Amino acid sequence: MDKLVIHGKNPLSGTVDISGAKNAVLPMMTAALLTEGVTTIHKVPDLRDTRTMIRLLKIIGAGIEFIDGTIKIDSSTVNKLEAPYDLVKTMRASFYVMGPLLGRFGEVKVSLPGGCAWGPRPVDFHLMGMQKLGADVSLEQGYILAKGLKLKGTNICFDFPSVGATGNVVMAAVLAEGTTVIENAAREPDIVQLCEMLNMMGANITGLNTNTLTIEGVRELHSAEITVIPDRIETGTFLMAGAALGNITLNHAEPNHLQIVLDKLEECGARYKAEHEKIHIQKADEIKAVDITTEVYPGFPTDLQAQWIALMCAAKGQSIVTDTVYHDRFTHIPELNRLGAHISLHDNIATVAGDASLKGAQVMSTDIRASASLILGGLMAEGQTDVSRIYHIDRGYEKIEEKFRSIGADISRISE
Ligand code: UD1
Repeated sequence: MDKLVIHGKNPLSGTVDISGAKNAVLPMMTAALLTEGVTTIHKVPDLRDTRTMIRLLKIIGAGIEFIDGTIKIDSSTVNKLEAPYDLVKTMRASFYVMGPLLGRFGEVKVSLPGGCAWGPRPVDFHLMGMQKLGADVSLEQGYILAKGLKLKGTNICFDFPSVGATGNVVMAAVLAEGTTVIENAAREPDIVQLCEMLNMMGANITGLNTNTLTIEGVRELHSAEITVIPDRIETGTFLMAGAALGNITLNHAEPNHLQIVLDKLEECGARYKAEHEKIHIQKADEIKAVDITTEVYPGFPTDLQAQWIALMCAAKGQSIVTDTVYHDRFTHIPELNRLGAHISLHDNIATVAGDASLKGAQVMSTDIRASASLILGGLMAEGQTDVSRIYHIDRGYEKIEEKFRSIGADISRISE
């Protein structure tokens, strides 16, 4: 197993190229299952999760070519309508094959994802949406079976604007007969891009960028070619590193997807300049403590909560970090405390004491974003930090140590 070894306190300067967004590309890859044509997607990040999705699509029978960040998916050969447990348990986003396979073939079998490090993470909204479209949904030996040869448009209102359920139900509805209206839909940029891609394939979805999506069903979809949006979570992670330690420029970034994060960083004392596809950040002379509460988009992303806590460890004074999206997503706290932070947790509210002089230690990754927070902690700490179990970070960050090294960090990957 690999680990990252970091010697902290190096100032960071230079330019980092931001990769395509993981959370956008995964549903886009499954959307390719909706057509017999070949779908071409550019700026696909080479991540463990992208590779897992490629494996899954191959099992389903699609032809895949992945060269230099461009993926071509040929779904004319799809012949197995199943997502096996082995893949779904390593990547929940595998569940995204449900909507497109049900929509195109009228049948699908997908392993029910188990719990995860952030709590139970149910899929009840996904299943409710499929049932409202007319599918028969049952559970057999840990697998969800959904059947419905003639899905029919309907009105659906989610209790919570779930990203995954919105994407999955939209993909099932594009080929359904009639009109589907989804209220309280997610409007994360990843979902907007999925809808844009489906429209390029011949779907008829309106209400993009709002909480109500209207889908007029069409008979079939065709090939399309699209470039993935920049990863706003990778961008946010590097912005926080810059706010603590540097003077860095992020290329191929989309500042409009991160306004609240940029505002919060400015409140902390960092200075930024946003241009077209570029953000420059300069560190705060002294990081001020700033509270955040995670919300659905355009609120502060839960996927940047762990990194914010790491940044706040070095702030002057106490800050409060509340996660309203995932109430149990705090496994990074005991690990950051090993670096000398003073963070306490009550329910979904973390109190970060601040003013910590972090010192290097051995710490362990528990999930993708928690790993990123430990890297930030290690970069800010004095001495050596070893971050183990970094297969988590490889799921969602492309070449993270190379990118940090290119701006002056002392970080290397060691195979144990
Ligand atoms: C996606 C992202 C993940 C991000 C999350 C929230 C991908 C691949 N992953 O996950 O990185 O942290 O959005 O921005 O895009 N819920 C239910 N029932 C459901 C579905 C969700 O109760 O059927 C709840 C969840 O437990 C959670 C909330 O809704 O509390 C939001 O979850 P959701 O938006 O669905 O997250 P994911 O799509 O799984």
